[in-house]
Amino acid sequence: MIIGIPKEIKNNENRVALTPAGVAEFKKNGHSIYVQASAGENSGFSDKAYADAGAEILPTIADVYSIAEMIIKVKEPIASEYPLIKKDQLLFTYFHFASSESLTHAMIERQAVCLAYETVEKTDRSLPLLVPMSEVAGRMSIQEGAKYLEKPLKGKGILLGGVPGVAPAKVLVLGGGIVGTQAAKMAAGFGAQVTIMDVSLARLRYLSDVMPANVTTVMSNHYNICEAIAQTDLVIGAVLIPGAKAPHLITRDMLKLMSPGTVVVDVAVDQGGCIETCTPTTHENPTFIIDDIVHYCVANMPGAVPYTSTLALTNATLPYALQLANKGWKKACVENEELKKGLNVANGKIVYKGVADAWGLPFNDVETVLQNELQLN
Ligand SMILES: NC(=O)c1ccc[n+]([C@@H]2O[C@H](COP(=O)([O-])OP(=O)(O)OC[C@H]3O[C@@H](n4cnc5c(N)ncnc54)[C@H](O)[C@@H]3O)[C@@H](O)[C@H]2O)c1
Repeated sequence: MIIGIPKEIKNNENRVALTPAGVAEFKKNGHSIYVQASAGENSGFSDKAYADAGAEILPTIADVYSIAEMIIKVKEPIASEYPLIKKDQLLFTYFHFASSESLTHAMIERQAVCLAYETVEKTDRSLPLLVPMSEVAGRMSIQEGAKYLEKPLKGKGILLGGVPGVAPAKVLVLGGGIVGTQAAKMAAGFGAQVTIMDVSLARLRYLSDVMPANVTTVMSNHYNICEAIAQTDLVIGAVLIPGAKAPHLITRDMLKLMSPGTVVVDVAVDQGGCIETCTPTTHENPTFIIDDIVHYCVANMPGAVPYTSTLALTNATLPYALQLANKGWKKACVENEELKKGLNVANGKIVYKGVADAWGLPFNDVETVLQNELQLN
């Protein structure tokens, strides 16, 4: 198959969809890879590294779209890319269709085949292509929180791990899923005194088993949160209710319970945030202050560490991308339920119910569409 890797052009997106190691894997499987010049530059991969691994470097994004049967990307195509997409071209990337009606219509019109990273789903309902970014954001939340606790950045001026003779900082992690677990591990590693709250007793049991002694597990409820935030230096928001907005576990009036210079890092801000006063910020301007509480609410945290994020993402996407290239999307989706769940749009039809419902558009059963497509060939 002919595979194209365009340079990401969405604002502040420094990741790339394939590393030179990934190029070598595709070559080993007999495929041709075309990479846009400087596509990997911001993630630390030179054109020479791609060429040495067997890719051909093309000068423009239009060249890549025009030659490729499958485009592998990181972010959804933006408006300037729409006209470049060809009928039947397979696009494997994050789409988040339910948050963009114009993108949904554009992909239907272009008659592309859209396989969305975010809906590839394992039988245990986990989302293997979202996990790596949650891992990055969870670990990073503590790094950022520690930084903003410094006095010149308007924090309390407390060192996360303390020093001999001085108590460490107290960290509260709301939500013990992927983000929360990674955050708690990092904070514990720094030597902080960590509390992790979740509504799932099973999850708390597991965390209690695997976390070090400086992590305490507590049931998440309003009473416990009010008690905890009065003594906390750093709060990490890591709650997710699938398919719904995050619940506001810390409301505006609860900020007064917290001491000045406390830092809140609301990782869940991309789902509305679990701290009421959090609104999305950017890496250029990551924080704001309300009632003396420092709010860090960057909606795309992994974007700041493209080297790690690119490797983490491609480690997870490559095995799926190889299946798509080796078998073609139809056979790969028929044989692999996880990939089938990733199909959102196929040749002008929406085949993912959540997307059809989000925009009131007709839904087509994915099995029927796949069978029809296979019969046509
Ligand atoms: N800002 C970013 O750059 C960035 C990056 C990655 C992920 N995220 C976001 O981080 C959030 C968490 O993602 P995740 O992968 O850890 O999800 P997850 O599903 O693994 O974990 C969510 C956890 O929240 C718990 N929970 C639900 N309601 C709760 C409540 N009332 N109190 C306490 N816990 C509660 C669940 O039981 C679950 O354990 C998501 O909104 C995700 O989109 C943001």
